Amino acid sequence: MRTKIVAGNWKMNNNFEESVNLVKAIEKKTDVLKLKNTRVIVAPTFVNLKSVVDSLGDGCVEVVAQNMHQAKKGAFTGEISAQMLQSIGIKTVILGHSERRTYFNETDEALAEKINTVLENKMEAIFCFGEVLEDRKSDNHFNVVESQIKKALFHLKDTDWKSIVLAYEPVWAIGTGETASPEQAQEMHAFVRSLVADKYSQAVADEVSILYGGSVKPGNALEIFSKQDVDGGLIGGAALNVDDFIGIITAI
Ligand code: PGA
Repeated sequence: MRTKIVAGNWKMNNNFEESVNLVKAIEKKTDVLKLKNTRVIVAPTFVNLKSVVDSLGDGCVEVVAQNMHQAKKGAFTGEISAQMLQSIGIKTVILGHSERRTYFNETDEALAEKINTVLENKMEAIFCFGEVLEDRKSDNHFNVVESQIKKALFHLKDTDWKSIVLAYEPVWAIGTGETASPEQAQEMHAFVRSLVADKYSQAVADEVSILYGGSVKPGNALEIFSKQDVDGGLIGGAALNVDDFIGIITAI
């Protein structure tokens, strides 16, 4: 059975105190739910990662990073390496978020290198992809997504896929209040799973969790998560409010 995941991407929000308070509240309310086969993840900003890790008890909340540099170490001012993350207990990193691609010029080629670094360091990646509105309108969304996946991930070996979580995030739905319909999400998730099955095997494709991201809220989560190929969500805005985030976790 595929693992279900609800991941909160806090982006550039929450100072030290807010981060610690939010994660503690999430942990407390999540523990009560006694979740099975479900991962609850939060992604604070780099400066607050260690404090958030340290403020957690033995509950089921995991802490991940929002980004990482591909190089081992060196003269890359302002960047963070895989080993730095590991040294504070971080095992998973979000890569290829559309905001990274748009505002920080992350290319598919750079993302392929970052994925390699993740694997070399025995970490896990939550790999984001998705089309912009013009691609959707011109019916080019499947081509765009196929290209993003192929360029960043199709050099991997079968066994590497154990360390990959996919996150379909149509850019037009991120932070806009406009969500892909459950049918649009399912259609794209099934397409992506078929790409992995064709290149690797059905077994590999059946194991990979594919999350949906883009204006997921407590009110629409159940409908989206009920689709066969949707294994959870990558949540932005609604992950900053404990009740909204717990509402979404309850939906899964
Ligand atoms: P949103 O963000 O839930 O605020 O749309 C999703 C994301 O960027 O991961």
